[in-house]
Amino acid sequence: MALTEQTRAAAAEIIARYPAGRSRSALLPMLHLVQSVEGSVTAEGVDFCAEQLGITHAEVGAVATFYTMYKRRPVGDWLVSVCTNLSCLLRGGEDVYQRLSGTLGVGHDQTTEDGTITLEHAECLAACDYAPVMTVNYEFYDQVTPDSAEEIVDALRRGERPTPTRGGPLCTFGEASFQLAGFADPRPEGVAGPGVGDPSLAGVLIAEAGGWKPEDGVAGAPPLTPLPSTAPPSAPAGATGAADQAPPPASATGATQTKVN
Ligand code: FES
Repeated sequence: MALTEQTRAAAAEIIARYPAGRSRSALLPMLHLVQSVEGSVTAEGVDFCAEQLGITHAEVGAVATFYTMYKRRPVGDWLVSVCTNLSCLLRGGEDVYQRLSGTLGVGHDQTTEDGTITLEHAECLAACDYAPVMTVNYEFYDQVTPDSAEEIVDALRRGERPTPTRGGPLCTFGEASFQLAGFADPRPEGVAGPGVGDPSLAGVLIAEAGGWKPEDGVAGAPPLTPLPSTAPPSAPAGATGAADQAPPPASATGATQTKVN
């Protein structure tokens, strides 16, 4: 491990955040610090954490192998994570993953020959409302398609930093790992960018349309909240879709919503 004085100073700063005698609680950010320097949690990195925190190698290893954000093999500058969990799977996440796997010539947890891009399947990335999603160094690209995802990695290979859908502009895996260790992003624009998009607000807008206010509580929920729908794929060409946009009457669908009191 490239243990510079700067790394040791950063480790000391992390440990100082915790009460005396509880330095072992610093293990998670320490592992991110190790990754920021080495690109993965190496054997030397485990030694470093154990030595700095006064715990055993087994204790460090148990944590480092439990969480998927800690990598046991070197990661490129760009960690591309494609969600293939249920919501994204249903919306084409596996197609996105397969396209990128073919384009990059790598499989899960593998890095391109030039060492720049690492691809991985990811479990739910907590952005189901934007499915299917992928992240690059944990920054979101929402509602991707195989084509749009390929454009993003092509841009990365050209040395560009495509703008994420939400959040700040991209930084490298090392830079992101340093931030995850608890050090602020020095870029003013790092905290810029939209934090929320329309899909996250859909429920609020539907509630507002139904006249449901926060002070009404659950008991104040409208008896049948109109849900927007989209035209089915089989809709005949030329159809206006007007009927599809209107919520069907409860009598037509048999739908009911029990009001919770
Ligand atoms: S299933 Fe993909 S973000 Fe939740």
